[in-house]
Amino acid sequence: MASPTTVLVTGGTGVLGRELAGLLEDRAEIRVLSRRPPQRPGFVQGDLETGDGLAAALTDVDVIAHCASAADYRRPRRDVAQTRRLLDALDGARPHLVYISIVGVDRIPFGFFQAKLDAERLVEDSGLPWTILRATEFHDLVLMFLMKLARAPVAVVPRGACFQPVDVSDVAERMVELVLGPSAGRVRELGGPRVESMAELMRSYLTAAHRRRPVLKVPLPGGA
Ligand SMILES: NC(=O)c1ccc[n+]([C@@H]2O[C@H](COP(=O)([O-])OP(=O)(O)OC[C@H]3O[C@@H](n4cnc5c(N)ncnc54)[C@H](OP(=O)(O)O)[C@@H]3O)[C@@H](O)[C@H]2O)c1
Repeated sequence: MASPTTVLVTGGTGVLGRELAGLLEDRAEIRVLSRRPPQRPGFVQGDLETGDGLAAALTDVDVIAHCASAADYRRPRRDVAQTRRLLDALDGARPHLVYISIVGVDRIPFGFFQAKLDAERLVEDSGLPWTILRATEFHDLVLMFLMKLARAPVAVVPRGACFQPVDVSDVAERMVELVLGPSAGRVRELGGPRVESMAELMRSYLTAAHRRRPVLKVPLPGGA
């Protein structure tokens, strides 16, 4: 019997990675990379910022599902450095690298998106078999934005800003197909079922949370 595919899930403790690792559990040999000491079998300790533990984590890996992110909007290039560190640690090995990116990274002039695009380019130029899936924002992230903006007495939202939020489990299911399939380059983007303005989303949130606030739309500077 062929041995199961060994998959390293970077960011396997995060919103997407957790879901993905759970779905892959019965279908592959899973290693979850985390900076924290292993909490259970299958977890490996490693740090994409310092490189500690990466060589061991990458030994005999067939596929890397690269879902880790510093999620640092002030220092967005940390994600580029982490991806470079991951590639450097491969030391000649050639696993299939599956990377999760964000819809619009090539069109929206935010530093975080530009860094994400640069990380995509590192993947594309790595010489490895690669697959990149761009997804829209997950519901969890949009909810976090809304909760933060609704803390003020007036909920200020950028005029014209829209989201097409997607359920993270839909993204994880698509990632499973990609991880277990052959390298496919840049695949079709994945978004949620509805495009909604931030003002509409804020009103829905306020209703659901039983909170009363005026919603004020303000213009967003720049080309976004
Ligand atoms: N959130 C969204 O709406 C959205 C939409 C489209 C695409 N994406 C992309 O999907 C990916 C996952 O997003 P997410 O929201 O699931 O992320 P998240 O919940 O913020 O999780 C981040 C993960 O990265 C790991 N990590 C951070 N720094 C690390 C380091 N130095 N070394 C090793 N691991 C490190 C963390 O692991 P430990 O803390 O355990 O070390 C954690 O598991 C990201 O690339 C993101 O850009 C996200």
